[in-house]
Amino acid sequence: MTARLSAAPPPSVRVRAPGKVNLALRVGPVGSDGYHPLATIFQAVSLFEEVTATQSAPGSGISLTVSGPQADAVPTDETNLAWRAAALLAERTGLPADVGLHITKGVPVAGGMAGGSADAAAALLACDTLWDAGLPRQELVELAAELGADVPFSLLGHTAVGTGRGDLLTPAMTRGEFHWCFGTQREGLSTPSVFRRFDELAGPSTPHVAPAADDTELMHALRAGDAVALGKALHNDLTAPALDLRPELAAVLEVATESGALGVVVSGSGPTVAALGRSRQHALALGAAWTAADVVDAVWCATGPAPGTQLVTSVSR
Ligand code: C5P
Repeated sequence: MTARLSAAPPPSVRVRAPGKVNLALRVGPVGSDGYHPLATIFQAVSLFEEVTATQSAPGSGISLTVSGPQADAVPTDETNLAWRAAALLAERTGLPADVGLHITKGVPVAGGMAGGSADAAAALLACDTLWDAGLPRQELVELAAELGADVPFSLLGHTAVGTGRGDLLTPAMTRGEFHWCFGTQREGLSTPSVFRRFDELAGPSTPHVAPAADDTELMHALRAGDAVALGKALHNDLTAPALDLRPELAAVLEVATESGALGVVVSGSGPTVAALGRSRQHALALGAAWTAADVVDAVWCATGPAPGTQLVTSVSR
């Protein structure tokens, strides 16, 4: 009887959180805090990170393992955003930070699709549930913003306008599904270095950031479920610095355009390139064109919008 009880699995919680693409990303001049003001439109896509939080013995602290594509490129120490999320939640709630975290990667690593931010969002919700902390959603959002500019959006999901550092969010109305194909590179780009190159290229007199007329068209396209209009309105101010740091990306944009993509855009700070297809089949064909041209290391097809951070399973003792 005792043996049976001790064999019961420890309580654990599994949560999934989506990656994202920026449909529009407009960047203003760097502020004194080292961040750039943004006017952006995020869309969550159906590539998900999964975080399982398992109760560990009192005093054991935080531990972390990672599996899935490119897992070996992900740190498993306190620099990992999921680890930092668990530590921050414990600090703010006064609860002991005893948890085993496991991340199953489903979003490209260091690709401008906020996979690390999704891990942080998932870890916050997983630990909040495991530890029965019961933080109100708004407090989780505030902790999320402390962890990184893209973390609040991963909690919210769907499609949203982001201002400030990209962390002040307003949900956007959309209709239907959009079909994406993402072309990724084995070697990622560091977000701070892309922003730094943006500053160098823009010079000192960048105008203050504001959404452009094109973004109104983009919002209309989303509301109408008009993929052709959405494709035309995609825009990213970080394209120039990303291309400057990684000139090979020009060929990725070109191949997708030549293959009839409705629109092509660098995702966030890159180097992932997002191509919008007419249908699921067309998105797959865009991926096949990239593979045939040998301009990407991997292709990932997905749809958007996808839901935000969600509880998948919760096992209690
Ligand atoms: O907030 P997060 O950790 O995702 O940002 C990583 C880095 O990207 C920041 O330290 C900053 O250098 C740059 N960044 C920025 N402006 C933003 C978001 C990020 O300059 N709005």
